[in-house]
Amino acid sequence: MAILSNLSFLSAFLALACFAAADFNRDAEITWGDGRGKILDGGRGLSLSLDQYSGSGFQSRNEHLFGRFDMQLKLVPGNSAGTVTTFFLSSQGAGHDEIDFEFLGNSSGNPYTVHTNVYSQGKGDKEQQFHLWFDPTAAFHTYSIVWNPNRIIFLVDNSPIRVFNNHAGAGVAFPATQAMRVYCSLWNADDWATQGGRVKTDWTKAPFTAYYRNFKIDSCAAGTSCASQELDAKARNRLRWVQQKHMVYNYCADSNRFPQGTSVECKRSRF
Ligand SMILES: *[C@@H]1O[C@H](CO)[C@@H](O)[C@H](O)[C@H]1NC(C)=O
Repeated sequence: MAILSNLSFLSAFLALACFAAADFNRDAEITWGDGRGKILDGGRGLSLSLDQYSGSGFQSRNEHLFGRFDMQLKLVPGNSAGTVTTFFLSSQGAGHDEIDFEFLGNSSGNPYTVHTNVYSQGKGDKEQQFHLWFDPTAAFHTYSIVWNPNRIIFLVDNSPIRVFNNHAGAGVAFPATQAMRVYCSLWNADDWATQGGRVKTDWTKAPFTAYYRNFKIDSCAAGTSCASQELDAKARNRLRWVQQKHMVYNYCADSNRFPQGTSVECKRSRF
């Protein structure tokens, strides 16, 4: 097992050593949607669309064990209720690991919800949700996942919004052995996404389109900065501000759902 994961680490490193800024033609493939996903500007941009017959999606060609993954997104404008736009990492097969950014659309004038989650060995239930401090449909903004052996950091325009530390020592599973691909999609989830499923997708507004660009992957090879990336005092202040002012759901505070008490990492998290 250890040998296997070292090998995949090495091949991820070799695959990455030659580039930083990705080209959607070279580094990604549109995997579903029957023409609804389109590569733009010679590989520098990509659009996904959704209509009542199908959504669409793409994935990175390579898998990576640790890295910093940046994506710029411009979300579906106007009435985006029922739609979900995603940017996430996932391993394959049973007992999978996953690190999620999902953008839950809303009726016009109401805010998107940024949904984050971490799955380790197939088990999730670690959701935190946020409203953004800007309109994510008016311009591109950068969403990043830093994933190293010590922690996972979710960032929006370089502001950390969430940190999930590795507490494997205290029995909390942490994704650290399975390489993951980047996946992005736009799909209909009006059975649950918007205001708990009460607001449905308005198909008269279809097709819905979201835009992606400036996809970047930096591997966390030993000795590079992201292998040990931590938050400095300024970043910790920013994280505190986001968590106090913009968080709308925290699994750590949900005693209805977790009557036996929240997980160990909730008690230990500090920033
Ligand atoms: C939609 O807007 C409502 C009202 O502002 C808000 O409570 C909710 O979190 C927003 N997002 C979603 C996905 O429902």
